[in-house]
Amino acid sequence: MNVSGQAFRTIWPAADGAAVEIIDQTQLPHAFVTARLATLADTAHAIRAMLVRGAPLIGATAAWGLWLALRADASDAGLAHAHATLLATRPTAVNLRWALDRGRSHLAPLAPGARAAAARQLAVEICEEDVALNRALAAAGLPLIRAIAAKKIPGERVNVLTHCNAGWLCAVDVGTATAPIYAAHDAGLPIHVWVDETRPRNQGASLTAWELLNHGVPHTVIVDNAGGHLMQRGQVDLVIVGTDRTTATGDVCNKIGTYLKALAARDNGVPFYAAVPSPSIDWTLRDGLREIPIEERSAREVTHLAGRLADGSVATVGLTPEGSPVANPAFDVTPARLVTGLITERGVCDASEAGLRRLFHKV
Ligand code: MRU
Repeated sequence: MNVSGQAFRTIWPAADGAAVEIIDQTQLPHAFVTARLATLADTAHAIRAMLVRGAPLIGATAAWGLWLALRADASDAGLAHAHATLLATRPTAVNLRWALDRGRSHLAPLAPGARAAAARQLAVEICEEDVALNRALAAAGLPLIRAIAAKKIPGERVNVLTHCNAGWLCAVDVGTATAPIYAAHDAGLPIHVWVDETRPRNQGASLTAWELLNHGVPHTVIVDNAGGHLMQRGQVDLVIVGTDRTTATGDVCNKIGTYLKALAARDNGVPFYAAVPSPSIDWTLRDGLREIPIEERSAREVTHLAGRLADGSVATVGLTPEGSPVANPAFDVTPARLVTGLITERGVCDASEAGLRRLFHKV
């Protein structure tokens, strides 16, 4: 994607060949800052502290982290340590385990001296694959938007609601849930996006809004609780969200608050789709509510908020009474029965085991 006319991905090898560079997403939308990851520790910190975030990007960053780790220690113990350290950073997005397991099975049979170069090549491949998957998702999801536009008066806008950030910042490029939205906008369809702010970290207000503004896509930021009201008034045609882990049976785990959007969508007859690239499918799980690990993040994300002051500086303020206990579950699970369909790189399917297996030929 372009930022001020310059093409950027969210992660790329540094020009000097000694590190990886990322967009530091904790600084957006107030500052566009890049950061350098040179070690395993840098990479683990970047994922845990959410300088990089979003399921596909977490996986891609972990792949680069294996390279950085093996440059320092390519022994069997070094590989095992890197795998374990990166896997422990965040529990919910299955893309992390997917990338690390793929790396380990590819690299472990190699002689230690060959591992670092192979890890670098694999990281490049995972990044290129991610972009290709997301382009295919965009193509698969676009007809859903076209079909809604076709039923409207010419020029009348199609209103899509999205939650969190599943745009190009969540992936290496292109994005997942917003990929069909960008495709629709680029194809000249009159699209408008309701952007849930997505408390507590505000990935919608800070990241999705920044992306859409940058790309010229009409959008409106709303508080998380507004979606149901807008649906009751007929102002939402379609919900598209991303996913951090979707079970083999079609249960969709995504950013906290997604489930409430699905409930409201069902009550109002609004189609609710999840964009699911195949590395986000956990084929080992069948019951999302019971089996998907839900990350519990720091209370400070709820009790404090960072924002820009009138003089342009960024400050953090407290919101809650000191001493009030706080809970901060970061994800929830939307049962498959509330999901209209899954948008995958192989097309759109029912949120069901049969639907997923039909596309992915799993036995
Ligand atoms: O905590 P985050 O910002 O990593 O959570 C991101 C999301 O929940 C996204 O919606 C999800 O990763 C899907 S993006 C493909």
